Amino acid sequence: MVTAYDEPGGRLASAAGVDIILVGDSVGNTVMGQENTLQVTIDDMVHHIRAVATAQPNSHIVGDMPWLSYHVELADSVRNAGALIRAGAHSVKLEGGRNREATVRAIINAEIPVMGHIGLTPQSVLAMGGFKVQGKTKSAADVLLEDALALQEAGVFAVVIEGVPEEVGSLVTAALEIPTIGIGAGAGTDGQVLVWHDLLGLGNRTPAKFVRQYVDLNAVITGALGQFVSDVRGGTFPAANEMYPTPATFNEG
Ligand code: KIV
Repeated sequence: MVTAYDEPGGRLASAAGVDIILVGDSVGNTVMGQENTLQVTIDDMVHHIRAVATAQPNSHIVGDMPWLSYHVELADSVRNAGALIRAGAHSVKLEGGRNREATVRAIINAEIPVMGHIGLTPQSVLAMGGFKVQGKTKSAADVLLEDALALQEAGVFAVVIEGVPEEVGSLVTAALEIPTIGIGAGAGTDGQVLVWHDLLGLGNRTPAKFVRQYVDLNAVITGALGQFVSDVRGGTFPAANEMYPTPATFNEG
């Protein structure tokens, strides 16, 4: 699974054979340049999901439910999940464990598949006191395991496990019948997810320990733009073959 936020992202992820595209609320960090995901709204998510879906990728599209779109009234949560489906998502993802059981059931009851997300849940950044690795003690790991089992019981089709020790990722995966998808959760989960900008070297801060950066697109793009600037200033762009020729009829009136 990889995140994507626009048509090129959907198109390229699909061409690369990615199984699941997550239109993540990480769009708040990666595209909107914010410190956390708490400013992202349901309208922002609809906008980005619609763009990804326009690519008609051969990948399952998961739409992330942003903070406060599923925390208040159940009916609003279902309507908000529906808005993401109408924008082109095939399922939705929401953060939390046992505390979100009723919400998960209500959304599934509206025929919308739900993916869970436990561990370091970025929408809880204020409550957690920062982006901190979770499940670091036996009792904390047991709580995560109970959360995962409760989500499975509520009907989620998969669970993202984020920011936990490797052993906790493996433990939860072994206990569940549904697939787990890890991010900073070690090698023992069924699948892995990375954020587009981290994987491709497009971020503006030092990547987290768990990120593998496959290319430095910041350098590639800056190099290409610098070349354009230099060609324009040096008068070598546009060249003759990059112009519309003057038609023979030009001086005919
Ligand atoms: O929003 C997102 O990108 C996510 C991933 C980190 C799993 O939720």
